[in-house]
Amino acid sequence: MSVTVRVPAKVNVQLGVGGLRGDGFHDLANVFFAVALGDEVTATPAAPGTGTTLTCTGPDAGQVPLDDSNLAARAARLLAAHHGIEPDVHLHIAKDIPVAGGMAGGSADGAAALVACDALWALGTPQQTLLALAAELGSDVPFALLGGVALGRGRGEILEALPVTGTFHWVFAVADGGLSTPAVFHECDRLREEAGTGSTDTDVPTPDADPALLAALADGDPAALAAALTNDLQSAALSLRPALAATLAAGTEAGAIGALVSGSGPTCAFLAKDAEAAEAVAAALTASGTCRTARATHGPVPGAAVRTG
Ligand code: C5P
Repeated sequence: MSVTVRVPAKVNVQLGVGGLRGDGFHDLANVFFAVALGDEVTATPAAPGTGTTLTCTGPDAGQVPLDDSNLAARAARLLAAHHGIEPDVHLHIAKDIPVAGGMAGGSADGAAALVACDALWALGTPQQTLLALAAELGSDVPFALLGGVALGRGRGEILEALPVTGTFHWVFAVADGGLSTPAVFHECDRLREEAGTGSTDTDVPTPDADPALLAALADGDPAALAAALTNDLQSAALSLRPALAATLAAGTEAGAIGALVSGSGPTCAFLAKDAEAAEAVAAALTASGTCRTARATHGPVPGAAVRTG
């Protein structure tokens, strides 16, 4: 009777950040890349009048809010309200994505809950409607539905799937403790003001996707992708968490061909030339003492989907 959905984490291979808009968001040129590290959300029927309840397991489960702020619970309620039905469901999150790590773990759970509840309640909601509901939940939620590699514009929610060839091998160095996404965007604005460039959308040009990065993805060329990795939030994440510089250096010393902070951090992402090199970089990073743990994985992988079998 229950439905389990697997959903990927993301890394941003390009995160171009424009100026602060009047609505408190920043215009982005955000190239999302879905990786095999992921969460699973299981939706189980609940008695009428029970509402939406949540449980969570996994190494970081203690840091996951189980109240109304959880995006999985909000997703179930939003989908039910859209269809005019009661949101009676129990959601269990098996959490493997670092919490508040810059890998959109909370957003992934929101996307997974939309897909799981849609299947459990046999609603057959069209994908375009699910994407619109996802955008209401948060800027990174639509991409978790789509997966693969995509360019996100606007605040990240206007998506265009991008062509990609082959598999890329990644290592993620997980830090102790998370970083708040709004705090990192705010620090980015502060650093821009300090540098005298201004921080609003009239001061900062709207960012664009880097043609060299798009070509590297389409060609399946890890060395070219490594050379093109950029994150406009990286200096802000490093300003708030200076120790991340040592993590980035340790991964590069261990043979990673590219290194950057993942999204708003503090997880650091490393590109390796192949699967074997990724395992070696992960082992060296774990031994370096510059992170809590390091995980080798790959991508791109599909977005949130019901697990069969
Ligand atoms: O959309 P989401 O709820 O994930 O965004 C969390 C916060 O991150 C926003 O409230 C905002 O402070 C910041 N943000 C931003 N520009 C974006 C996306 C997020 O400033 N494009």
